[in-house]
Amino acid sequence: MNNQQEVKVNDDAKNAVFFQSDPKDLEGREQIKGYDFNKGLDYDALFESLVRTGFQASAMGQAIEEVKRMISWRLSDDPIKEDESEDYHDQETRKNTRCKIFLGYTSNLVSSGVREVIRYLVQHSMVDVLVSTAGGVEEDIIKCLAPTYLGEFSMPGADLRRRGLNRIGNLLVPNDNYCKFEDWVMPVLDRMVDDQEKKGIRWTPSRVINRLGEEIKNEDSILYWAHRNNIPVYCPAITDGSIGDMMYFHSYSKPGLIVDLVADIRAINNHAIYSKKSGVIILGGGVIKHHICNANLFRNGAEYAVYINTGQEFDGSDSGARPDEAVSWGKIKLDAKPVKVYADASLVFPLLVSQTFVKHFKPKNDEELKLNKRDLF
Ligand SMILES: NC(=O)c1ccc[n+]([C@@H]2O[C@H](COP(=O)([O-])OP(=O)(O)OC[C@H]3O[C@@H](n4cnc5c(N)ncnc54)[C@H](O)[C@@H]3O)[C@@H](O)[C@H]2O)c1
Repeated sequence: MNNQQEVKVNDDAKNAVFFQSDPKDLEGREQIKGYDFNKGLDYDALFESLVRTGFQASAMGQAIEEVKRMISWRLSDDPIKEDESEDYHDQETRKNTRCKIFLGYTSNLVSSGVREVIRYLVQHSMVDVLVSTAGGVEEDIIKCLAPTYLGEFSMPGADLRRRGLNRIGNLLVPNDNYCKFEDWVMPVLDRMVDDQEKKGIRWTPSRVINRLGEEIKNEDSILYWAHRNNIPVYCPAITDGSIGDMMYFHSYSKPGLIVDLVADIRAINNHAIYSKKSGVIILGGGVIKHHICNANLFRNGAEYAVYINTGQEFDGSDSGARPDEAVSWGKIKLDAKPVKVYADASLVFPLLVSQTFVKHFKPKNDEELKLNKRDLF
């Protein structure tokens, strides 16, 4: 290779390495800069820096912003639409009409201390519709009867089985807790059958759960506050847990309980249809994630969405699907700015709540609570 050729190769290499970028492509983008502890320990500033930190810290920062948008929106922010019902023309009603917030959580989160965070939100009517799986219902009640303990992920199953201890991750639930649950729930199921036969009550999963909340009379319980504050809890797979075991045994001791799923699908879909704006916060995947997203399909998508889960999309699972997949189905709006945080919700959700609901939310007034009672069941 002669000198001239070498110079050309060198120029080509330089052009490849120093290929010029256009500053216009980066206009309006955050610059990456993490928190500087030389400025002292300021948790608000630390959280505020997350969005500029990158990776899942940025997703967390974006999730905080998305939840703040759900909380702060009022119908009075939007002009009256030509075809809008006259019920919503009055400015006071518009100021009191908020985004309906759907909160979904997997069962294990109720086994964990996330239960107390969810209970706080429900106690103060900060969320409007709950969706969980059967374990998320019964574990809340069982914890009112006996505690769950911290164990270790590595505890051998055979040894635990011999000791009558059940493991959920690094949590331990003694078998006795389920015996106490049986003692508590069987008479409640008896009364439900009586009410079905004598008062003509048609039970649905959400009505069963509401009744459990009424009967437990314990302020530590999510379901107690959901009952008191008229917040429906949907659980389409209610029999897939200890409560299903109890329903099985009960079907021999006092047969006849009928639970109607169709009435509940109508109720949750109507919640989505009749909300003026819809926001979804989904902790984990599986049934709870799909059930909330599917209800929002009936309004052509939720306006706001935050997913916190560890699911991956490469296997095509709904659990792992990113929000953009839900956009393709019409379950999240085309112009929404949904966020997925890839993380364990037990770590992330309490922090998210601390930076959003706890700081920026005023409990609903009577007028707002009245507006939220629409189509409870
Ligand atoms: N305590 C329990 O976990 C418990 C108790 C009784 C019955 N069950 C039953 O087991 C069945 C399956 O449970 P499920 O549908 O609630 O969820 P799941 O435990 O099957 O989880 C579904 C998906 O959610 C995500 N996820 C779960 N935990 C997470 C976390 N901490 N952080 C982030 N992402 C997380 C993962 O992607 C997971 O694959 C249900 O029918 C339930 O009733 C569970």
